[in-house]
Order: sequence, then C-alpha cells, then structure tokens
Amino acid sequence: MVERTLSIIKPDAVARGLLGDILKKFQSGGLKVVATKLTRLTPERAREFYAVHKERPFFGGLCEYMSSGPILVSVLEGDNAITKHREIMGATDPAKAAPGTIRREWGKDVEKNAVHGSDGPETAAAEIKFFFKPDEIHSS
Ligand code: RTP
Ligand code: MG
Repeated sequence: MVERTLSIIKPDAVARGLLGDILKKFQSGGLKVVATKLTRLTPERAREFYAVHKERPFFGGLCEYMSSGPILVSVLEGDNAITKHREIMGATDPAKAAPGTIRREWGKDVEKNAVHGSDGPETAAAEIKFFFKPDEIHSS
C-alpha cells in the first residue's frame, strides 16, 4: 500500500552537513521525497510537536535540542513507507541500531539520533499536516 510519512533530519545532523547522505539512504530504500523544506522549530512549536512525550523525563531536553537549529522536514512516499522509513532509520538508541541504518551511522546518542519518523498512519497524517499544506506536496 502506498503511504506517506514525515521525516525530520534533526538539528545536529543538519549542522554536520549530512542532508545529502541521509536523503540518499531514503531514496536508495525506495522512498520518494514528495515535499521538503529547511525550517526551524521554536521551543513552543517543539513542545507542540512532541506533546505525546510531555510526561517523559527527556521531554525538556528533547524540545530544547529540536529547537536548537534548522531541521529538514520531508514527506516521504512509497509502499509501506512508514515501516520502511523506520527500518532505514534504525532503533531509537544508535548503539542498538542495526549496521547500515542512519542512526547507527550518524546518531550520536539516544537523544541526538539524527532523524525522526512517524510511527503510524494517524501520526503520519497529523505530523505531515503540522509542517505542510496540501499544495506543498508533489507526487510525481
Ligand atoms: P522519533 O519519534 O524521533 O522518530 O524516535 P522514536 O520513535 O524512535 O523514539 P520516541 O520514543 O518517539 O522518542 C522521541 C525522541 O525523543 C528522544 N529520546 N530521548 N533520553 C532518552 O532516553 C530519550 N528517549 C528518546 C529521541 O530523540 C527520540 O527520537
Ligand atoms: Mg517516535
């Protein structure tokens, strides 16, 4: 089934010049970039985006990190895009991520783990809407 999912390349990965390498991994894995932009979250917008984690001990640090610099947000499209994207990203903790995954190659630690991906169809739809208007998404 063709799906869409939201990808975020997180601030430290953008700052380290990894945009091209990470997008290449998505494309090599069969995902199409149908929307993308460089943007920056304010601390308030980061808290809104990660509201589901607001009771977690890492919430404050996560929102500070995610608003610390520019991020690249993209909509990825393809067969089983949500699961495929998460496979290409690897486990949350880079130390536990499989060889060849983005987080294993470029994640620094469990927080600064280079990328974000939606975790299901409902969150994908909500997260895409959080960043993109319908006319900013272009399937070919
Ligand atoms: P993501 O949402 O970024 O795709 O990552 P995920 O599903 O693999 O992980 P999730 O549990 O949703 O956590 C969201 C982000 O919070 C940071 N985190 N820090 N310090 C910690 O123990 C901790 N645990 C999670 C990570 O940046 C994680 O991606
Ligand atoms: Mg998550």
